[in-house]
Amino acid sequence: MSATTTSLRQVPFFAYPYVFTSARNELLAVLEDIGSRGAFIMQRDLSRFEENLAIFLNSKFALGVGNATDGLHFAVRAADLRHGDEVILSSHTMIATAAAVHFAGATPVPVDCGPDHLIDPSAVEAAVSSRTRAIMPTQLNGRTCNMDAIKAIADKHGLHVIEDAAQALGSRFKGRCAGTFGMASAISFYPAKVLGCLGDGGAVIANDEAVYERVYQMRDHGRNTGGEIVSWGLNSRLDNLQAAILDFQLKKYGSVMCRRRYLASLYTQRLYDVPELVLPPAPDSDPDHFDIYQNYEIDAEKRDELKRYLKDHGIGTLIQWGGQAVHQLKALGFTQHLPYTDWLFTRLLMLPMNMSLSDDDVHYVCDNIRVFYGYAQ
Ligand SMILES: Cc1ncc(COP(=O)(O)O)c(C=O)c1O
Repeated sequence: MSATTTSLRQVPFFAYPYVFTSARNELLAVLEDIGSRGAFIMQRDLSRFEENLAIFLNSKFALGVGNATDGLHFAVRAADLRHGDEVILSSHTMIATAAAVHFAGATPVPVDCGPDHLIDPSAVEAAVSSRTRAIMPTQLNGRTCNMDAIKAIADKHGLHVIEDAAQALGSRFKGRCAGTFGMASAISFYPAKVLGCLGDGGAVIANDEAVYERVYQMRDHGRNTGGEIVSWGLNSRLDNLQAAILDFQLKKYGSVMCRRRYLASLYTQRLYDVPELVLPPAPDSDPDHFDIYQNYEIDAEKRDELKRYLKDHGIGTLIQWGGQAVHQLKALGFTQHLPYTDWLFTRLLMLPMNMSLSDDDVHYVCDNIRVFYGYAQ
């Protein structure tokens, strides 16, 4: 039975305390264990998490880093790009994707996304120039791009593929996990991510040993596995405590993905017949895709009014990237003209999608959306 719109409830977009309170005792036990061992930096808990993450992804290597932004930067640096080289990425991504390219000395080239909000392969093909060295697809909202199409373009032009898989741990295309298709990728463990820690955290995923060694050194002052400094590096290690927390969370990850997919199917059931909305694909609607719903990003008519209406009814929503696509960040010198992305960015809105959400919360959100557009609950 649906909740009624008259009984006001609070449905925050994301309840940060829940990351801790949902497993308070277990997390305190992890802290007690790490603290009493004094195991803060680069200890066995980090290596164990890296091994388990690599097994989960079916990749050869996973390396904990300070955050996905650093991880993306290390991945791009490992491709040995030069000044003037171009990297094609979706304009519908976090600025971190483009910043990783910029700080490696190359030029980020944002292109249109498609109606699925993921980088549009035909826009990638059209943007390839003699200077293009890599494609950086963002596996956005917990859905993996059509990697057959991206890899075909990369193979045709001899380009690297570096995935921004910050939002996509466990998402799959044709059975293969996001983050394992290209030369390297990065995943984020920011607290609001599907696998979130109690602070910042990230990982770089790679199958190639040379890439692994480069990133291994870059995250820890250029030290190799023997502790000898052999290259220039930074300090971007994943804290051992965060790694231990993530290892604990990873054990429950299957049920977390399952719950999020169920919540997505509930949104579909309740909203599929609202013509003013375009919803994310429902779970299992396409056998090639296994989505983990990091975000539930809809495309809505009268988006700003809807957002206000939901806020007045206690429902938190969010417009991704503060409403600005990468190419719209004129202060950073972007000059691309991407009318489709411009249009889509007037309509995108993320509804609550997280583990603190009850079924009744989803019904309440959907009831309010239906009332807003003038349909029966
Ligand atoms: C698509 C995307 N790329 C990169 C990042 C950066 O991740 P981090 O905050 O771990 O640096 C995020 C984080 O929100 C993201 O969503």
